[in-house]
Amino acid sequence: MDNPFRPTAGASPPELIGRAGVLDEFAYGLRLRSGAPGLLTIFTGARGVGKTVMLGAAEDLARTQGWAVVSETATKGFLGRIGHAMRRLAEELGSGPQGRRLTAVTAAGFGFTTQLPPQQQLEWREEGLRLLHLLEEQRTGLVITVDEIHAADRQEIAQLAADVQHFIRADLPVALLFAGLPAAVSDLLNEGVATFLRRADRIDLHAAAVDEVRQSYADTFAAGGFTLTEDQAGRAAEATGGYPFLIQLVGYFLWQEAEKVAPVLTDAMVDQAVAAARRRNERVVIEAALSTASPRDLDVLRAMAEDDGPSTAGDIGARIGARPNTVGNYRTRLIDAGLIEPAGYGLVRFAIPGLREHLRQGRA
Ligand SMILES: Nc1ncnc2c1ncn2[C@@H]1O[C@H](COP(=O)(O)OP(=O)(O)O)[C@@H](O)[C@H]1O
Ligand SMILES: [Mg+2]
Repeated sequence: MDNPFRPTAGASPPELIGRAGVLDEFAYGLRLRSGAPGLLTIFTGARGVGKTVMLGAAEDLARTQGWAVVSETATKGFLGRIGHAMRRLAEELGSGPQGRRLTAVTAAGFGFTTQLPPQQQLEWREEGLRLLHLLEEQRTGLVITVDEIHAADRQEIAQLAADVQHFIRADLPVALLFAGLPAAVSDLLNEGVATFLRRADRIDLHAAAVDEVRQSYADTFAAGGFTLTEDQAGRAAEATGGYPFLIQLVGYFLWQEAEKVAPVLTDAMVDQAVAAARRRNERVVIEAALSTASPRDLDVLRAMAEDDGPSTAGDIGARIGARPNTVGNYRTRLIDAGLIEPAGYGLVRFAIPGLREHLRQGRA
C-alpha cells in the first residue's frame, strides 16, 4: 500500500476527518433542486483547514447525482471561463445521447478581461439559461464552485451573483459554492457588492477533534500493515491539534519513516515525523498567513504568544499599551484574517497550530 496521506493543497485526504454532516444541507438541496438554502454555500476558514477539499467533496456528491459541475478559482477572468465551460456543457448535452454522464469542464474562455463587455454579459446569461433548461429536462442541475474568493475581482463576483440570482428566481436548478478566507468573505458580504450572497449558508470550518484524528491514524496505519500503539497514535494526533494540513503532514512523514525504517513504529519515529511536519507547516502555512499582517498586528500576536493558552483582551491591551477599543479592532482584523479565533467570552487563541512557537522563537 502506497503512502495514502496527501499533504498538498486541495488534495483529497485518505479520510475526511471531522466533517460529518457538513454537506447535509447541500445534499438536501440537490434533492430539492431549486430554492434550498444549501444550494448557496460559502466555506470559510484558515489556510490549510480544508476548504478546497470541501468544495471537491461537494462536487463529487453532485456528480453522483448526475449534476454538471463547473469548478473555478477566482483568478482574473474566472467569469468568462465559467461562461465558456457552460457553453461546452450545453453543447455536449444538446448533441449527446439522453442521460449521458456529464463531466466537469474547466476551460479558458470568453476572454481575459475582468468585466465582460455588455454583449458578452448577455451571452453569459444566455449560455447559463440554455444549459440550465437542458439540465432541468434531465431533472438534474448545475453546480458552480469558485475557490479562493479572497482573490476575486469585485465586479466579476457582483456579476456572477446577479446572474445566479436571476437563475434562482426563474426556479432553475443551480448551486453556487464559494470558499475563501474569513476576512475576504466578511468584506465581500459587508461591502454590498452582492447583497444576495448574504443569504448564503456560511460554513466556518475548524480543526477536527484530536480523538477522531487518533482513531483515523490507528485505522490507516493498521490497514497499511504497520504497528502503531494507541499511545503513539494519540501523541501523533495531539501534535496535529486536529488541524487538517498537519494531520496529512504528520501522517505522511510517519508513513515514510515506517516504510524506510521498520513497520513497528517507535516513539522516536513519531517524534521525528512530528518535527518534520512542523517544519514543513511553518514554511508552507505560517509564513503565508503572516505575509499580510501589519507591524501592529504582529505586536498583538506576539503579546498573545506570551500566554500558554487563550489570551484575554485585557492582557493583550496591557502588554501592547492599547485601549480596549483598539484591541477590539485588532481582534476583529486578526479573526477575519484567519490567524486567531474566539475562545469563549473575552478570549482569543491562535487559529493556526505552531504559530505561537513561531512567534516565541522570534521568527516573525
Ligand atoms: N477533513 C479533513 N481531514 C483530513 N485531512 C484534510 C481534511 N480536509 C483537508 N485535509 C487536508 O488538509 C490539507 C489542506 O486542505 P485544503 O482543502 O487545501 O485547505 P484550504 O483550501 O482550506 O487551504 C490537504 O493536505 C488536505 O488533504
Ligand atoms: Mg484552498
